[in-house]
Amino acid sequence: MSFKHKHLLGIQALSASDILTILETAESFLEISAREVKKVPTLRGKTIVNLFFEPSTRTRSSFELAAKRLSADIINFSNQTSSVSKGESLKDTVLSLEAMNTDAIIVRHSYAGAPHFISTFCRSHIINAGDGAHEHPTQALLDAFTIKQEKAKFKNLKVVIVGDILHSRVARSNIFLLSKMGAKVVCVGPPAFLPIEFQQFGTQIDYNLDRAIEGADVIMTLRIQLERQQKNSFPSIREYRNIYGLTEERFRKAKKDAIIMHPGPINRGVEISSDLADSLQSIILKQVENGVAVRMAILYLLLGGKDRETSD
Ligand code: CP
Repeated sequence: MSFKHKHLLGIQALSASDILTILETAESFLEISAREVKKVPTLRGKTIVNLFFEPSTRTRSSFELAAKRLSADIINFSNQTSSVSKGESLKDTVLSLEAMNTDAIIVRHSYAGAPHFISTFCRSHIINAGDGAHEHPTQALLDAFTIKQEKAKFKNLKVVIVGDILHSRVARSNIFLLSKMGAKVVCVGPPAFLPIEFQQFGTQIDYNLDRAIEGADVIMTLRIQLERQQKNSFPSIREYRNIYGLTEERFRKAKKDAIIMHPGPINRGVEISSDLADSLQSIILKQVENGVAVRMAILYLLLGGKDRETSD
């Protein structure tokens, strides 16, 4: 199994073969989280930093669990309680943390390109945990892992991504990944959230969810990213929900075995009805569960772990 990247900055830099390597490695890590003792010594002695400048529930926790299940040491950096609040720059913050001999730094930042910038002066492996509206590669990888678990393939699957596509790093990374793997991606949202330029990424765009959802295998719903908007892009939440919300009636137009995904956090009753979010067709919590194995695989492949099979 060959994986020759030093960093994971985005999906665009990965080949289809790299993506399959990550998914296959994650598959082999899945059972560790089901053991009574959820730990292997693979990354013992490695030091990892969770450097999050934006809030996170799923990504930060699952990276922390992934590192701990591989026996690495991990510290969680919080923007509010660090010296960033005293004016320290991003570069000085990272250099100070790296001076403590880190092996990998996992970065979430509101500025697109922040992890790429850090990778230009760091010797640690850099992992992008979401940069502005640009990319969220580990989310797309865990989404792909979950789709493959459910559908066993990507080729010719119809995947509808609906919501605030413009401001969504999850949408971008998923468009890049799923198109690379042969799925047919259709993006849906109001024109203010779905510029025609998105066609250049190899996705079809549609402003009508009722039409786009017909024959869909996968429906990925996204929240409206109010924190990334300069102005109000739609008249009201009620109107948005009426036109672009995933309801039981709309979902019936998809294939009978269609699955519902959401990267979280969910705004119940806005982009998805609460009943659908909790339905049997929803694999939202499966995505969260798989996130740990996928992030274990990424840490393992980047940091060159060994002794995988031996329990502590
Ligand atoms: N999907 C995702 O990135 O969730 P968090 O913001 O909670 O990490």
